[in-house]
Amino acid sequence: MKNIAVFVSGGGTNLQALIDAQARGELSGGKLALVLSSSPDAYALERARQAGIPTAVCSKKELGSQDAFESAIHKALAEHSIHVIVLAGFLSILSEDLTSWWPERILNIHPSLIPSFCGKGMYGLKVHEAVLARGVKVTGATVHFVTAEPDGGPIVLQKAIDILPDDTPESLQRRVMEECEWKLLPKAVDLLCRDALKVEGRTVKIIGGRVIV
Ligand code: GRF
Repeated sequence: MKNIAVFVSGGGTNLQALIDAQARGELSGGKLALVLSSSPDAYALERARQAGIPTAVCSKKELGSQDAFESAIHKALAEHSIHVIVLAGFLSILSEDLTSWWPERILNIHPSLIPSFCGKGMYGLKVHEAVLARGVKVTGATVHFVTAEPDGGPIVLQKAIDILPDDTPESLQRRVMEECEWKLLPKAVDLLCRDALKVEGRTVKIIGGRVIV
């Protein structure tokens, strides 16, 4: 059983999707063992408390430097014997020092179909505004492994939805979450915890075949 840490900064609806999946027995190879927030005010911490999951706060602002911030993260991960990290709306940047400690063991969820609408500065509503401004006809979400390149690591799972004529950035954000993110993330975490993901260069093979989300 792998111990999972979920890193959050905000509302934590993706964390909630993981909590609900665990309650349904859908995280068979893993256990939610820590929720680590970059902010003491994140509502995600309340979700963790309600689910009985240990929490930690590591705020770069309060710790003063990237080194102190990442030392605090390493300490929390060691204290909870963490094997797998899930970035679920975590807004602080992690250095290559930290990500290279966890090769193929950190997942991130991004609210677009990578490699479109991703990279530096592409987060939150900005992604959906850019999608609508460019006039693409489909969008979606991507779960990928985290490497030093922002949103550039090997892609694990993606799901697409159509853009509707009257979509706004807000309506699109909601539909991408409900129809893509909250389904993809628990599935990808389960696959990783069950050792069912094999990375070959930039490609991720799913052992046991195709996954329909
Ligand atoms: C999600 O859209 C996720 O894709 C992105 O940040 C947002 C987090 O939302 N990385 P929540 O805190 O899980 O509700």
